[in-house]
Amino acid sequence: MRAVVTGGAGFIGSHLVELFIEQGHDVHVIDNLVSGKKEQLHPDAHLYEADITDPQVISLAAGIKPDAIVHLAAQADVSRSLANPVYDLQVNTIGTLHMLEACLLAKTATLLLASSSAVYGMPPALQASSKWNITEETSTEPTSCYGLSKLMAERYVELYAKLYGIPGLVLRFANVYGPRQLPKGDGGVIAMYAKRICEGQSIRIHGDGGQTRDFIYVKDVAEASLLALVSNLTGTYHVCTGDAISILALTDRLEHLLGQSIKREYAPSRNGDIRHSRLSPLKLVDALGWTASTSFDEGLRQTLQSWGLSTI
Ligand SMILES: NC(=O)c1ccc[n+]([C@@H]2O[C@H](COP(=O)([O-])OP(=O)(O)OC[C@H]3O[C@@H](n4cnc5c(N)ncnc54)[C@H](O)[C@@H]3O)[C@@H](O)[C@H]2O)c1
Repeated sequence: MRAVVTGGAGFIGSHLVELFIEQGHDVHVIDNLVSGKKEQLHPDAHLYEADITDPQVISLAAGIKPDAIVHLAAQADVSRSLANPVYDLQVNTIGTLHMLEACLLAKTATLLLASSSAVYGMPPALQASSKWNITEETSTEPTSCYGLSKLMAERYVELYAKLYGIPGLVLRFANVYGPRQLPKGDGGVIAMYAKRICEGQSIRIHGDGGQTRDFIYVKDVAEASLLALVSNLTGTYHVCTGDAISILALTDRLEHLLGQSIKREYAPSRNGDIRHSRLSPLKLVDALGWTASTSFDEGLRQTLQSWGLSTI
């Protein structure tokens, strides 16, 4: 398969590119390197330094004649989306529209959109109990500009499938973690904690630490994405574990793996913080028989080691 991967020099993208190349696929990366890094890109990937908000990217991507466009490039920071909603819309929604236009021009390409659990906002049943799982049918009520721009991008993918028959695959990722994640933004709590531990600093827990997240290891996300693509899957699916892990439990696992206690400081809850976030993996299990295979401990161990930390 010949694939265009937008955002291929970023955190998730670089792992996905690696896997695609290991499996013998021809990979062309479009990235403006705003947060991605050339050094973390597989040497066999072809890099085009371009901006997905520039209309010229349509002919660039179509000219590669891809079988698939794996669209990961995004403004992925919730706080930034609130501070600069126009930029967020341009990158996440208009950027996606450009990739759909490229599929239309190339005639044969499938579009895989990396979406997010942020499209759901805070479903009341889940905020009341971490035991409840969001399904793909749960109503979407984004509580941030990021969630809304991703939801609009999804709707364009659905519309282009109906209007022009472009095969569209929307994968809503849970909280992804692993090596190469930048220690910033709202999603990168594990990277942030690893960095603080490296610096001998205390880690900051917002609120009581009882808030939960569905953490999934980045290599599992890459594996699910590739499998879904080669299986010609279309529609909307979660890529998640279905498990809810609290921030306090995360801290305990880090202490266990490092064999040392970690200094903790408590700070007030942040405005708009989601209490619980937990997705159901069942639709993807039914479609592909796929489940995430990396245990939380193993994923954490790999991540800590990538920061140069010794683990038991
Ligand atoms: N990290 C997570 O937990 C998570 C969860 C759900 C969904 N996602 C989605 O997965 C995708 C990848 O996220 P990530 O965590 O790897 O983020 P990242 O910031 O590491 O990667 C984004 C990549 O896109 C590139 N990029 C950004 N704006 C661009 C533009 N205008 N033109 C061209 N390239 C541009 C960046 O340089 C970077 O390489 C995003 O679509 C994000 O919304 C991530």
